Amino acid sequence: MDHTLSFVRSMALGCAVKLGVADAIHRGGGHVFLHDLIAALPNPVTASKLPHLGRLMRVLTTSGVFAQADDGAYCLTPVSSLLVSDGGKRKNQTQLVRLHLSPLVVSPFTNMAEWFTSDDGEDTAFKMTHGADFWGVCERHAEFSKLFNEALASDSQFIMDAAIHGAGRQVFEGIKSLVDVGGGTGEAAKAVARAFPHIKCIVLDRPQVIDGIPAGGPVEFVGGDFMDFIPQANALLLKFVLHDWNDKDCVRILRRCREAIPPRQAGGKVIIIEIVVGSSSEAIYHATQQLYDLHMSMVTPGMERDEKEWCKLFMESGFTKYKINPLLGLRSIIEVFP
Ligand SMILES: C[S@@+](CC[C@H](N)C(=O)[O-])C[C@H]1O[C@@H](n2cnc3c(N)ncnc32)[C@H](O)[C@@H]1O
Repeated sequence: MDHTLSFVRSMALGCAVKLGVADAIHRGGGHVFLHDLIAALPNPVTASKLPHLGRLMRVLTTSGVFAQADDGAYCLTPVSSLLVSDGGKRKNQTQLVRLHLSPLVVSPFTNMAEWFTSDDGEDTAFKMTHGADFWGVCERHAEFSKLFNEALASDSQFIMDAAIHGAGRQVFEGIKSLVDVGGGTGEAAKAVARAFPHIKCIVLDRPQVIDGIPAGGPVEFVGGDFMDFIPQANALLLKFVLHDWNDKDCVRILRRCREAIPPRQAGGKVIIIEIVVGSSSEAIYHATQQLYDLHMSMVTPGMERDEKEWCKLFMESGFTKYKINPLLGLRSIIEVFP
């Protein structure tokens, strides 16, 4: 039953994010009793639902999202600290939770067995369920597209901190120009431009993503298809892009990358921020990387790759050397050289 009901844990987390529980506990000084919690939630909960809120909190406390002090008050844990937005002042992962648990993303998982046994030629359960691939659904559903862009933007703010001010800093040193390929609304490129003002930063993404963004900030935006053309630069950044694509398309994108950068001696390189399956010896990371891989395989034609699979892609695309640095949590920063 634990295996059968594990989705209830995920949905309880999604519910707590929508209700703003982590923010309410944070505002209450990190120590809040149930009856105060109901009053502190930014989204009002009917008083008659108080016992149900207690049951929700019990599940989330047992699973480690929240903790309970000896006097029974609820507290934050390292997990729920990531969900405190503090009115938008704190970098957080709430939009990423909302995205992964949104009905459009979750519904294909109810069709997994049907997808495995279907011979309709659809490459993902997502496409079989919605009749369009991920980007097609983004075009059809403006709210979903907004959530997707916000989720990835907040994730970029979050992980680029670790990349620039932590384990990955040396990766950006010495670069003069950088294109963030599939860079979304430009949060990762903006973080690079803020930390290294001498680096000329350009973001390449689909015109649908770029069109509404006002010009004139610290980074330049270019609308286009990275399968066809990537602007020339010293270095390219690909964050959470290649895991959306199958090997054939990854090789096509990486060959375009290879054409856009100078030789290694002149400082040319591609910087990839992605999961490297098996990068950590900690069992929880490995298990979550495998879950993420199955997730990607149902939602996109892509996958999460281990070092051997990454190496094969790099060599097939004309690169000769790579270096993997574990970055934060599930992800690594990979430097790939011509
Ligand atoms: C998973 S998101 C990652 C966004 C960003 N790199 C980040 O991590 O925040 C993948 C991005 O690739 C863009 N994309 C998908 N297909 C593309 C294409 N053919 N040409 C350019 N961008 C594309 C999407 O619009 C989206 O912004």
